[in-house]
Amino acid sequence: MKAQIALGMLAFLALIGVLVVVAIGEPERMAEVTRAFEARQIETGASLFEANCRPCHGPQGQGIQAVAPALNAPDLFDGSRLAAVGFGGTLPDYVRGVVAAGRPVPSAGTNYPQRMPAWGQEYGGPLRSDQVDALVAYVLNWEARALAGGGAPPTPSGPTVGADITVALPPGDAQRGKALSEGGLGCSGCHILAPVGPAWLASGTEPGIGTRAEQRFQAAGYSGKADSAEQYLFESVVAPNAYIEPGYQANIMPLNFADRLSSQDMADLIAYMLSLK
Ligand code: HEC
Ligand code: HEC
Repeated sequence: MKAQIALGMLAFLALIGVLVVVAIGEPERMAEVTRAFEARQIETGASLFEANCRPCHGPQGQGIQAVAPALNAPDLFDGSRLAAVGFGGTLPDYVRGVVAAGRPVPSAGTNYPQRMPAWGQEYGGPLRSDQVDALVAYVLNWEARALAGGGAPPTPSGPTVGADITVALPPGDAQRGKALSEGGLGCSGCHILAPVGPAWLASGTEPGIGTRAEQRFQAAGYSGKADSAEQYLFESVVAPNAYIEPGYQANIMPLNFADRLSSQDMADLIAYMLSLK
């Protein structure tokens, strides 16, 4: 009998010991679970962003000029944008609010041709509340990179190409042109990812921009000054309003590329576009 009591006591003490050890490990384990949850949330947010937001905000959230503002940018994280729109709450609340409810009315001083859609189901959008949370986590995860300057679009350094389409350009590199187009200039955003500008890639009976350029400058109704495919592309970029592609509007294509591109940038972009037959 005594031996049984002693054994019971021992088992009890051992149990307490185990519980103490588990309890000591608990905060560590909870932090681990939280980290894993956040990582999964950011991953989910990344694929939702890719599918729903990239066409307007760009592949890395760097924005597309005249389509939607940059989200991966220092002013969103350093408080200056919240101050500019007069929002007194926290950044997560701001981002969540805009993503869920959209911006049916454009903010003061902006003239984006399309509205920011409402995404939250409570506002008639397609996404559940946990999906909106995942998008917010993904956008907020850009903070360190944006503040370090990694999110900003490229700024021109050195002389720019200007608007004279008869100047000689250096030999172009189509690979570099592709990278420029997919980067902060936003060309691919409007011409490949979203149907904001004329599509560059061939589809069905429509040829790609490379073939179209060969034909366009010789076609009836063309109002520009180009007399080669290269000059046509050059002109389309530095003087978009010289000729408006039928079915599209003037002033959507940014008008300031002549002052933002170097001669090499222009040559590389032309080489890339010509390669898209
Ligand atoms: C049809 C184009 C379009 C799509 C698609 C789109 N947005 Fe926007 N978004 C905009 C425009 C335009 C604005 C600026 C609205 C304004 O200020 O009037 C904006 C603003 C925002 C802002 C506020 C930025 C600021 O500077 O105040 C956030 C955050 C945002 N969008 C996130 C998203 C997310 C996340 C998605 C995907 C679920 C998304 N957007 C999809 C066009 C779009
Ligand atoms: C905000 C959207 C937008 C961006 C960014 C943009 N474009 Fe455009 N682009 C348009 C629109 C809209 C048109 C059609 C109206 C016109 O002809 O000017 C157009 C027309 C063109 C054309 C003539 C198209 C054709 O089918 O003949 C070329 C070439 C072109 N863009 C090249 C570029 C390049 C290169 C860049 C980046 C340096 C760029 N675009 C950035 C919207 C955009």
